[in-house]
Amino acid sequence: MSTNRNDSPQPRPRRPRYGVDAPAFPATLGAAGAACLLAAGRWRPGRAALATTGTALLAQTGVYLHTTLCGKLHVWERELDRAGLKGDERLLDLGCGRGAVLIAAARRLPAGRAVGVDLWSGQDQSGNTPEATLANAAAAGVPDRVEVHTADMTALPFADDSFDVVTSALAIHNVPSARARYRAVDEAMRVLRPGGQLLVADFWPMARKYAAHLGQGTLRGLGPGYWYGGPWLGVTLLHAVKKQ
Ligand SMILES: C[S@@+](CC[C@H](N)C(=O)[O-])C[C@H]1O[C@@H](n2cnc3c(N)ncnc32)[C@H](O)[C@@H]1O
Repeated sequence: MSTNRNDSPQPRPRRPRYGVDAPAFPATLGAAGAACLLAAGRWRPGRAALATTGTALLAQTGVYLHTTLCGKLHVWERELDRAGLKGDERLLDLGCGRGAVLIAAARRLPAGRAVGVDLWSGQDQSGNTPEATLANAAAAGVPDRVEVHTADMTALPFADDSFDVVTSALAIHNVPSARARYRAVDEAMRVLRPGGQLLVADFWPMARKYAAHLGQGTLRGLGPGYWYGGPWLGVTLLHAVKKQ
């Protein structure tokens, strides 16, 4: 009996991997926690305080890693469901990184398009490249719905009113100056069509300032699943609709 090559099992595509946000942060936190616990094992004076501090730092590292590896993915599944997409929208994700939000959106857009822009900073996300994002889109089965552009979110290369939805997850705060962050928010509104939705997840003080700058929008905490170590680094969602 001959064996047709096409009958042999095909390698399963790997699952998307979205990397670790700001990887130096949990690495430092975890190393400090481990150092405290080691010191507690060696020195009698201050042993209890060192052990408590070390345990607290390692717990925060665990919460951070949970958020970046899976918590934020669940939160965005929920928030994109709440956005009530019809499936034919053009969606833009600012600072898309390896595509955690971009690809979750693309899954909901069988007749639409999910466009990501990024400057691909490896400090802001591990393994951050356009190739990694496109490979994740392929692994998720949505390569034909996703495109990525190398572009600065403060000067978007898109026409006015050209997207139905603009998202951004933990990216605008990475823009160094307040003035440039507001420019990113203004750019998001410029490319959004009247009646289109803006969904920006960022640390609470930032999200509050973006809303004040826009003079509109609702703010909602996204819960423990989006804590970067603890509630003091929790994430808030700004939801705004562009005026008709
Ligand atoms: C913490 S990562 C978040 C990535 C992705 N949104 C997520 O939630 O997984 C922040 C991203 O913003 C990008 N970024 C920072 N400044 C940017 C800018 N001025 N324009 C476009 N992207 C930028 C970084 O390269 C990085 O990919």
